Amino acid sequence: MRVAVTGGAGFIGSHIVEMLIEQGDDVEVVDNFSTGDPNHVHRQASVVELDVVSKSLEQVFQQFKPEVVIHQAAQVDVPKSLADPLSDGMANVMGTLNVLEAARRSGVRKVVYASSCAVYGEPQSAKISEFHPPEPISLYGASKWLGESYVRLYHRLFQLDYTILRYSNVYGPRQGMKGEGGVVSSFIHNLLAGVPPVIYGDGKQTRDFVYVKDVARANLLAVKWASTQVLNISTGVQTSIETLCDQLISRTDHVLKADYKPARPGDIRHSCLDPFRAEMHLGWEAAYTLAEGLDETIQYARERR
Ligand SMILES: NC(=O)c1ccc[n+]([C@@H]2O[C@H](COP(=O)([O-])OP(=O)(O)OC[C@H]3O[C@@H](n4cnc5c(N)ncnc54)[C@H](O)[C@@H]3O)[C@@H](O)[C@H]2O)c1
Repeated sequence: MRVAVTGGAGFIGSHIVEMLIEQGDDVEVVDNFSTGDPNHVHRQASVVELDVVSKSLEQVFQQFKPEVVIHQAAQVDVPKSLADPLSDGMANVMGTLNVLEAARRSGVRKVVYASSCAVYGEPQSAKISEFHPPEPISLYGASKWLGESYVRLYHRLFQLDYTILRYSNVYGPRQGMKGEGGVVSSFIHNLLAGVPPVIYGDGKQTRDFVYVKDVARANLLAVKWASTQVLNISTGVQTSIETLCDQLISRTDHVLKADYKPARPGDIRHSCLDPFRAEMHLGWEAAYTLAEGLDETIQYARERR
């Protein structure tokens, strides 16, 4: 199958590209390399350096003729969305709209959209289901939510099929330190450099960490299944930042202790997504335990040093 992956040079996108190629698909990456790395793109994928906002996107799709577009490209830095809301909105809202319009005009069958737990905002229950009201509390969360709204409208108005995947905090090899799940790569970076990892607040805040290869596999399943569904992609397991830090310290053989700093305003206390519907509609559940994922991530970081 011919699949276009926007943001295919990024952390999650590059793993998706790798898996698609391993299963024999023909893949084209569209990326502006703002955070992505061309060295992370599988050699068999063709690469177009382009902003997803560009008018030329339609021409790129017309030439490649993808059956499916997996849309990962986005501005993913939450503080940056507050500092520069217009460029966040441009990449995430206008970029998504342009991807949808280019897809519609070039006969794409389906768009798989990378959304986020950030669309929920402050959780009203211990485990967030897809029916939780969307009330983003960051501009990034709002721009991902608006992107979702366009995806749904393109189905309603133009019958463009879709699956929306709302990831929890993704971690794994090739992750930068700024994105949503960046705490894992930031802790590992510090520990391997012999610098204490920084915990903001009391460390008792919890997150639902999902390994990048599990997320990539969910995208591949969504290419075929879960038409017009919105699905959480998560483990449903809460891990405190303190526990995460302890696990990483013990795995990196360090005697370092975390450096506690004041909590950052706007940080959500607990965030855990219920993955039940992903299992129901995609037959997907996370295969990696946190321990397995962290081991692979540390090994990758060690090799890179
Ligand atoms: N990492 C997480 O924990 C997480 C959680 C929830 C949702 N997401 C979503 O997953 C997707 C991928 O995130 P990631 O963590 O891999 O981030 P990333 O920054 O590593 O990857 C984003 C990729 O998109 C490219 N890009 C950015 N803006 C672009 C533009 N305007 N035009 C073309 N290319 C552009 C970047 O160069 C990069 O290669 C995003 O849509 C993000 O919102 C990530």
